[in-house]
Formats: sequence, C-alpha cells, structure tokens
Amino acid sequence: MGSTIFLFLLLSLAFPHCIFHQPIVFVNGDMRLIQETCKNTKYYDLCVSSLKRNATSTKADTKGLAIIMIGVGMANATATSSYLSSQLFSTTPNDPILKKVLKECADKYSYAADALQNSVRDLGTESFDYAYMHVMGASDYPNACRNAFRRYPGLAYPSELARREAGLKHICDVVLGIIDHLGW
Ligand SMILES: *[C@@H]1O[C@H](CO)[C@@H](O)[C@H](O)[C@H]1NC(C)=O
Ligand SMILES: *[C@@H]1O[C@H](CO)[C@@H](O)[C@H](O)[C@H]1NC(C)=O
Repeated sequence: MGSTIFLFLLLSLAFPHCIFHQPIVFVNGDMRLIQETCKNTKYYDLCVSSLKRNATSTKADTKGLAIIMIGVGMANATATSSYLSSQLFSTTPNDPILKKVLKECADKYSYAADALQNSVRDLGTESFDYAYMHVMGASDYPNACRNAFRRYPGLAYPSELARREAGLKHICDVVLGIIDHLGW
C-alpha cells in the first residue's frame, strides 16, 4: 500500500501532466481548435454547433474539421434535393411549368452535393484551391434554382426554399472560412 502511494507520488512528480491535467487539457484543447477555427468563419455559432454535433470533430485537425463541415453541407444539399423531388410528386399534374422548375431545382441541389463531394476529394490531395473552387460552386447552385423561378413571372419563389438556400450558403461560407486558413 505504502509503496503504491510512493509510486503514485513519484509518477506525479515526473509526469504531472499525465496524472492531473491530461483529461482537462485534452477536452479544452479540442474545443479550442474548434473555437479558433470557427473564429475564422462568417458564422461562428453555426460552425461550432455543427462541428460539435459530430463526435469525430474533437479528434480532428483543421482539415478534418473542414471535411466534417463539408459533410454537413452535403447532407443539407441532399435533403433539399429530396425535398424538392417530393414536392414534384405532390404538385398537381397539370402544372407543367412548376414541375419543370422543381425538377431543375432538385438537380441543382444535387449538383451542389456533388461539388461538395469533389471538394472532399480535393482536400485529400491537398488541392486547396480546387477545394475552395468546388465549395464556391456548391454555394452558387441555389442561385440557379432561384433564377429558374424568376424566369416564370407567375411563379413565386417559396419562402421555404429561400430559407434552405440561405442555410446551404451559410454552411458553404463556413467551409470557405476554414479552407482559407489551411495554410496554402
Ligand atoms: C462525422 O464526420 C465524418 C467525417 O466527415 C463522417 O464520415 C461522419 O459520417 C460524420 N458523422 C455524423 C454523425 O454526421
Ligand atoms: C439544412 O437544411 C435544413 C432543411 O432540411 C434546414 O432546416 C437547416 O437550417 C439547414 N442547415 C443546417 C446547418 O442544418
């Protein structure tokens, strides 16, 4: 018993960080990287809350955080594409123009998800400029959808779609802010 205590004291003197501080430093350090990384982005709260929702973010480096955030964007774009496809089926069959526009928009949001997928591949090869470009592309696809609605004066741009457009763009802005600080 006495020798166990002695050994413990000896170890604490030799490796004080391991015994007393490591768990705390570990947690703070991980959160600190998320916070520092998100400070470089336009939407700090969105950035922190999105990253915190993914358990792997506490073990990720800055590039890993970018990839997790891109995953959030892919899920978001895919969700909106599916939403638009479902609208397509629930729309009255005798509204061919609305159907055409909804289909076009569903495609654009799925291209946005593809572009984000490409940016993950680019980050894997350290092609930061291409990654940046693909995220910019993803952020631009919702505009093509909005323009499709504009082309037909009788069609109003749904507020639900405006909300989803802003959501995806904000996510892309956060990703761009992170990629900007990857040191390329
Ligand atoms: C967390 O991020 C990783 C890396 O992008 C991804 O593979 C995983 O699916 C994400 N998990 C969740 C729950 O979204
Ligand atoms: C993603 O899309 C959903 C709609 O499916 C939206 O409610 C949300 O605000 C968007 N943003 C994030 C960060 O999930």
